[in-house]
Amino acid sequence: MADVKARPATGKLGILTPGLGAVATTFIAGCIAVRKGLGQPIGALTQMGTIRLGKRTENRKPHIKDVVPIADLNDVAFGGWDLFEDNVYEAATNAQVLDQRLLDQIKDELSAIKPMKAVFDKNYVKRLEGPNVKTGTTKMDLAEQLMEDIKRFKEVNNCDRVVMVWCGSTEIYIEEGDVHQTVASLEEGLRNNDPDIAPSMIYAYAAVKMGVPYANGAPNLSCDVPAMIELANQTNTPIAGKDFKTGQTLMKTILAPGLKARYLGIDGWFSTNILGNRDGEVLDDPDNFKTKEVSKLGVLEQILEPDLHKELYGDMYHKVRINYYPPRGDNKEGWDNIDIKGWLGYPMQIKVDFLCRDSILAAPLVLDLALLLDLAKRADMKGIQEWLSFYLKSPQTAKGLYPQHDLFKQFEKLKNTIRHIGGEDIITHLGLDYYE
Ligand SMILES: NC(=O)c1ccc[n+]([C@@H]2O[C@H](COP(=O)([O-])OP(=O)(O)OC[C@H]3O[C@@H](n4cnc5c(N)ncnc54)[C@H](O)[C@@H]3O)[C@@H](O)[C@H]2O)c1
Repeated sequence: MADVKARPATGKLGILTPGLGAVATTFIAGCIAVRKGLGQPIGALTQMGTIRLGKRTENRKPHIKDVVPIADLNDVAFGGWDLFEDNVYEAATNAQVLDQRLLDQIKDELSAIKPMKAVFDKNYVKRLEGPNVKTGTTKMDLAEQLMEDIKRFKEVNNCDRVVMVWCGSTEIYIEEGDVHQTVASLEEGLRNNDPDIAPSMIYAYAAVKMGVPYANGAPNLSCDVPAMIELANQTNTPIAGKDFKTGQTLMKTILAPGLKARYLGIDGWFSTNILGNRDGEVLDDPDNFKTKEVSKLGVLEQILEPDLHKELYGDMYHKVRINYYPPRGDNKEGWDNIDIKGWLGYPMQIKVDFLCRDSILAAPLVLDLALLLDLAKRADMKGIQEWLSFYLKSPQTAKGLYPQHDLFKQFEKLKNTIRHIGGEDIITHLGLDYYE
């Protein structure tokens, strides 16, 4: 028997999402539909993934969930916060991602999930305004109210463990500053209502302070500051961020490593999107788009290493645009025009037109991040969980390290971490028997 390094997933797990919009409701409704046999959890490694173990000759390829103790979907309770009062059935209906016939079959379960009052401040998301918002004298007071919510949720739903995944809107761009440096400065800032502490950071603080694993699905700073890392280490809490890697950036981190591997040059990569959901509306504001832009732009630089390969990538022009276009709703269209060059510098072009569904791509990521963070907690792993970079557009790393964006390298790290937690041998590039 392998020496599994994580405690079993006994009892119930609560998954809490700040934000009950398109992504969160598609995630929750999807999980409930899967539980009832009304759909397949496509895209979720924790549900469908297999992993090779041992030598190739052993021919062992079990399901990931049979190698490490991942919480069963039947043992999960869902909850969240939003500034709108709609329950999950109503919010999922408004989001228009999932078929109404499917939602109607699980109406009772979805209607029972009502949003807790949000910590929200319009200064950070100008396009939104809603009634279901907490009041408090200080940001610390609001953080304490969130901690009370978490405790109450755990009791009412009879949960043994809880994890939190930020599925709220993208906030305005904030740079890391003095207040974010230490736990002491952050707590001082919470008491003094420091403007550099956005609502998403108040949720992250509440979670991590209580030892609740936290993942950040948006590009907001949230848990990606030294103070939160220090707190996570103090409270033995695994954290991961930031920004779900779905549509266009997923494609980019699949294609770019391939072009680089063949030493094909790139002169320009122009990416544009049209989308018409609430996320698109929020990102139509330049201050909110800036946060997203920074998250999207870093990807190619790290994969292509232009400093090392000036003749191939030194003058590459990289541009990312997002355009709010209501008729498309959640069904985003992402175009990429890639100007590449080959032998003797001869130019060629690649066009990608990805007609994707944003929330359909994001929902399985919410599930995997939640279940794998819960696993990490039971394996006594704390601080930044770099092995979860696979899911994230702008992966959080330890100070001084660059993030790894190459999807395939990220996947290797994820699988080796699973092997390690499962008490199996890790498989490295140096091994003679590397190929899957
Ligand atoms: N769908 C994707 O492919 C994808 C990929 C990467 C990142 N994201 C990010 O995920 C997040 C969610 O996306 P979405 O499509 O569900 O957006 P959405 O606008 O449908 O949902 C976000 C919800 O969060 C709520 N909200 C905002 N601030 C809040 C706060 N402080 N507290 C509680 N609730 C709050 C809003 O009222 C809204 O209902 C966005 O930040 C988006 O940028 C999505």
